[in-house]
Amino acid sequence: MSLITSLSAIEILDSRGRPTVKAYCTLASGARAEAAVPSGASTGTAEALELRDGDPQRYHGLGCRKAVENVKTVIRDALVGKDFDTQAALDTALIELDGTPNKAKLGANAILAVSLAFARAQANEKGIPLYQHFAAMNNNAMPLLPHLTVNLFSGGKHAGGQVPIQDVLLVPHSRSVDDALATTYNVYQAAVKLISEKYGMRPLKADEGGLAPPFPNVEAMLSDAVEAIKRAGYTPGQEVSLAVDVASSQFYSDGRYHINNQALDSSGMVNLLLDWIARFPIISVEDGLAEEDWGGWGKFYRAAYDKVMIIGDDLLCTNPRRIRIAIDYHAANSLLLKVNQIGTLTEALESYQLARDAGWQVVVSARSGETEDSWLADLATGWAGDYIKVGSIMQSERLAKYNRLLEIETVDGLTIHTYDSMPIEDLHVSADSVAALKSYGISTVGEIVELLEQNLRGNFAMDGIGRGILDHLDVILVQLKGKGIWPENP
Ligand code: PGA
Ligand code: ZN
Repeated sequence: MSLITSLSAIEILDSRGRPTVKAYCTLASGARAEAAVPSGASTGTAEALELRDGDPQRYHGLGCRKAVENVKTVIRDALVGKDFDTQAALDTALIELDGTPNKAKLGANAILAVSLAFARAQANEKGIPLYQHFAAMNNNAMPLLPHLTVNLFSGGKHAGGQVPIQDVLLVPHSRSVDDALATTYNVYQAAVKLISEKYGMRPLKADEGGLAPPFPNVEAMLSDAVEAIKRAGYTPGQEVSLAVDVASSQFYSDGRYHINNQALDSSGMVNLLLDWIARFPIISVEDGLAEEDWGGWGKFYRAAYDKVMIIGDDLLCTNPRRIRIAIDYHAANSLLLKVNQIGTLTEALESYQLARDAGWQVVVSARSGETEDSWLADLATGWAGDYIKVGSIMQSERLAKYNRLLEIETVDGLTIHTYDSMPIEDLHVSADSVAALKSYGISTVGEIVELLEQNLRGNFAMDGIGRGILDHLDVILVQLKGKGIWPENP
């Protein structure tokens, strides 16, 4: 039982110098914690509401004094003196207290700050690291470090709009956070040199620390990224791949995508995305289509679901209702999880679990306006997200998360996410399939992948392992593919 004895909040500034909320929570055991919430710029329209003061004389209306006041009055009065067994119990109380579908009354910034501060206070109460507390919340016996996706080049709303798309990110194929960061540093430095030669300028940085020279078009941005990977001595697609956040809602108007001096319809945009995938070593495309262009999402899914991760950010807004629709509609195969889009840990966890049950991959993401708080690194590890997206390696609000991942890796000895040792039960296949696999001595995902690699290369010569297993392979293959662990060249 965790009895709340005090709750408070203050207004602090995020990495863009805009106000945000930091909350403090104390429990009867004496455990105490604080947590700060981030804030987006290229936001989805279905996001929970960030309560802002609207006073034009102060921070252009962006002040958070009302949200802070809500923590110190309405929320404190309702929660202090009460016992909350679980995070879900606390978050339900917060949701009911607000009573609106998008947290418009108390503000998602106020609510999430309390939700997070309580989680950290409970971890302190139990005397365990925050990632372990998050793992327990998700019934996850094996916290794992995520793979990194690191912002290299920026455009769109996070930069000066030189190119319409928002980010080109590096995805090092490293087996440790330490190696991923060292690799990223090398590519980032090669890119700094490249753009100073090519564009004759010192490296201007965008909101998340990505480099933002005046690329003539998106293709130049992508080929410069590939060039930087090569110059740093890595093989594109084998040692370092690319991810793109197209953030296409930002350049979609009147049913057209305004990009590369063209006004493309849905099919035109899908073809453009397919062209990028064919020409560059891209493993994931985020918000390739606008948030209201469901038809476009369906087209892209049908053409690319087995080639790349199709990630919904603005489309899904970490909202369970929207994720259910996207699963039914076959609009995406991966979730960008941003806790402040929905406003409580419990609802974000529901989103996470829905995505996982559909065989999707999950990218745990920071916002463009961040703070020095590092809870996101613990969340990505505890919930075992496949990837984390934090921004570049050049600003302290980003490094707080990377440094926390390094700490978890070096001090606590956790390893980066691989499916090799995942028990087959976790694939959500039928009990029959699990029993069949076990009868062949297979108990981990790594063993299935090994088996597939050996046997599919030999033209489906399955005799050595018995034909019975074939009956179950189809469902297992779908699950493996959904989790991005299909052997590369079957
Ligand atoms: P935002 O950007 O935090 O400004 O929404 C991040 C993203 O689009 O992924
Ligand atoms: Zn995005």
